[in-house]
Amino acid sequence: MTDHVTTIAVGALSPYEVTVGRGVLTTVDRHIGPQAARVFLLFQSPLRTAAAALAGRISSSGREVVGFEIPDGEAGKTLSVVAEAWDLLGRATFTRTDTVVALGGGVATDVAGFIAATWLRGVPLITVPTTLLAMVDAAIGGKTGINTDAGKNLVGSFYPPKAVVCDVDVLSSQDPAAIASGLAEAIKCGFIADPGILDIVWSAPDRVRDPSSPLLRDVIERAIMVKANVVTADLHEHSVRAILNYGHTFAHAVERVEGYRWMHGYAVAVGMVFASHVASIMGLCDSALPAAHRDILSLVGLPTSYYPRRLAELSEAMAVDKKNRGTVTRMVLLKEIGDPVVVESVPPRVLEQAYEVLCAPGGGL
Ligand code: GLY
Repeated sequence: MTDHVTTIAVGALSPYEVTVGRGVLTTVDRHIGPQAARVFLLFQSPLRTAAAALAGRISSSGREVVGFEIPDGEAGKTLSVVAEAWDLLGRATFTRTDTVVALGGGVATDVAGFIAATWLRGVPLITVPTTLLAMVDAAIGGKTGINTDAGKNLVGSFYPPKAVVCDVDVLSSQDPAAIASGLAEAIKCGFIADPGILDIVWSAPDRVRDPSSPLLRDVIERAIMVKANVVTADLHEHSVRAILNYGHTFAHAVERVEGYRWMHGYAVAVGMVFASHVASIMGLCDSALPAAHRDILSLVGLPTSYYPRRLAELSEAMAVDKKNRGTVTRMVLLKEIGDPVVVESVPPRVLEQAYEVLCAPGGGL
């Protein structure tokens, strides 16, 4: 049974639709092109049952399904996983009209995207995100990637999918921490472009954390619309797409320093608070902006502070962030809510001061 279904258009040159609804997992096969004789279904290990059901539906229309299970977590985003997939595709004589389907979180959509982008220089891709974080971010916009010894996501490509299917029902199996992590990216969309998202979170913070609530669905759709508009304007991150990295300069550094044990959204939450302090210290925004960040993020259970005495390590990690140009720290900052700007060079003294206030006692870790 599906209730109402929302479709959101993405992309100028190779347009596609994001479908959002309850029970829409049963409609994935409708997005597979009529010429596809084979479907490569990549899924993360905890999703074996859902993958088997999806494979059954796809094969009932006469298509061959090649299932490919990847390890859960970042271990699924390695070159050896990709090489194994290429072998399987070769043995299945997978052609350009066949289709790759990714079922899972951001790891699945990133690695499947990379496989789809590289096999025969590009075969159709459908992403079916199963986490809130992947629905509002990773599955949309065509970023694909794997991790290598040199770092996370340093190898990849921009390769938009043909369709994205977000079944909100699957979120009922997500734990509260994973929902909060996904909400951080949705709140980011609120700060950079759609304050309506912040209003919803303010008005009912408990309900937006409830996967069965229509308010969470509303937040998901609004966040997807923000991302859709941005990546439609700038797929390759030559200009406006950079605003999607709000909070991410510091967040990536935190993730690196914490050995990737922090959930991404938790790091983004702290990164946004840090960015708000930087903007306030530089006199770019109203001095109330950091408090607005801390208040809304803590309402949904996200951290808003960090540990003192780690700036040297964090600065080193920020220096290798791939969003930097040369050796300066480039950050997205807010002039006000809904008005982001890319600042090309944030002075080290400002970073130090912002770090000090971020880590002050009572900050909310
Ligand atoms: N996650 C940021 C982007 O897709 O550009």
